[in-house]
Amino acid sequence: MLELKNILFRTPESDAGAQSPAGRTIIHDLSFTFESGGFYAITGPNGSGKTTLAKLIMGINELTSGKIIFNGSDISNLPIHERSMAGIVYGFQHPARFKGTTFRDLLSVATGSDDEEKLVEIISRVGICSLDFLDKPVDSKLSGGEIKKIELATVIARNPKVAIYDEPDTGIDLWTIGPMVELLRREQKENKTTTIVVSHNKSFLEAADTLLLIRDGKIAYSGNLAGAVPILEDLSVCTFNELCQGEANAQCYR
Ligand SMILES: Nc1ncnc2c1ncn2[C@@H]1O[C@H](COP(=O)(O)OP(=O)(O)OP(=O)(O)O)[C@@H](O)[C@H]1O
Ligand SMILES: [Mg+2]
Repeated sequence: MLELKNILFRTPESDAGAQSPAGRTIIHDLSFTFESGGFYAITGPNGSGKTTLAKLIMGINELTSGKIIFNGSDISNLPIHERSMAGIVYGFQHPARFKGTTFRDLLSVATGSDDEEKLVEIISRVGICSLDFLDKPVDSKLSGGEIKKIELATVIARNPKVAIYDEPDTGIDLWTIGPMVELLRREQKENKTTTIVVSHNKSFLEAADTLLLIRDGKIAYSGNLAGAVPILEDLSVCTFNELCQGEANAQCYR
């Protein structure tokens, strides 16, 4: 069980750029309990705080206040590697690329083994069919979808207790989304992985047992998808083909 208790994140003054005034609160006094083995989707408008929330759970962002309790232990002050050793793994929205490192290197670190059979078994689970892929450099030449598949594989390879995937479907082709949802469902069921997927994709929202809707750093809704529909419709703010003018579109400039 992963409990978020009144967590709050305010940007450190030194990190704030022109777009984000110093000391801005991104996550506001948010509380939620992820039950062990559940499948959760987190959605919400761009900039609402989903990635920030995921990074708080992983320890990449430091809490300003509040507590995170994992299986009864307070992990609020644990560094990233200790949370990782405790079984919490995060797949980045924008995975890092490493010049001079291959996919095989990353997978070997994730599994703690360079046994080729084991690595092949993992890449086949994430829908990569070619063995040649193992020796691809994880550098800027990888396509957007390829780097996301690699990130997904390195999360799964760790056999996490809690897996947080930040928009795993970004750049993923039409033919891979369905199998990706099935894969995460299977990992959740067979390995009892608490699965948290940040996504805007309907396939993930439909697959989840519980949907969390984040708006302005708060939980605007948690429950099933059907209950979220009226709120999701209400959240459609402004469109690209309308000039943001007048009272109706004032919220575009918030
Ligand atoms: N360390 C930081 N310093 C300053 N601003 C930050 C920091 N971290 C996040 N933000 C700001 O907080 C807001 C929420 O960012 P976040 O990445 O969590 O959004 P998101 O919900 O994941 O959006 P998207 O759907 O586009 O991925 C953004 O306006 C972002 O610029
Ligand atoms: Mg994000």
